[in-house]
Amino acid sequence: MRPLFVVLEGPDASGKSTQLELLERALNARGIAVVSTREPGGTALGERLREILLARSSTMHPLTELLLMVADRHEHVEEVIRPALERGSWVLCSRYVLSSMAYQGVARGLGLERVQALNTMATGGLRPDFTFLLDLPPEVAFDRTRERDRFEGEGLAFYARVREAYVRLLDTQSGGHIVDGTLPPDLLCQRILAHLPLP
Ligand code: TYD
Repeated sequence: MRPLFVVLEGPDASGKSTQLELLERALNARGIAVVSTREPGGTALGERLREILLARSSTMHPLTELLLMVADRHEHVEEVIRPALERGSWVLCSRYVLSSMAYQGVARGLGLERVQALNTMATGGLRPDFTFLLDLPPEVAFDRTRERDRFEGEGLAFYARVREAYVRLLDTQSGGHIVDGTLPPDLLCQRILAHLPLP
């Protein structure tokens, strides 16, 4: 069986990192090798870009933000994601191109065309096999985050724009599924696993 590239999407505090851990454990228990990773971040350079991107003290234009996200993604695809898939490992990744479409393309208002063109360049066209949107009502997501970083400081209206964009854009993804981010973590993990072709 070919290794799969699985992406988790959703607002901040939707439980993506908890699900990555639970999924990795469940897949390992079935004898599947897994690389768990995240964006922004996932490489040495990416973690430095992440600090700049999330710091509340950073100021930048929306297009600069997109270019940094895309630079991070190119490094990540080349250094981590593609090599892992070529070695035969599954890749579980918190956030990918859909994040840039929802946050920079829609919520920041840059438009989807630019975001798509830059992402195609950055990823060389590598698409996830499955994308799970951990959906949360904006009020719940906003309450959970307590404005820890630059994105979380954007307020409830920003969260609402991101969610609306996510739901609309997920339809355009093959292998896209919405799951209920308010479920207890173990149950949510079972729901996600039920969509995956497992040995
Ligand atoms: P994330 O790691 O999910 O933060 P948290 O651990 O708080 O859930 O993502 C950090 C922020 O980066 C998040 O607010 C969304 C933003 N982001 C974009 O705006 N565009 C992107 O392409 C990516 C990957 C993330």
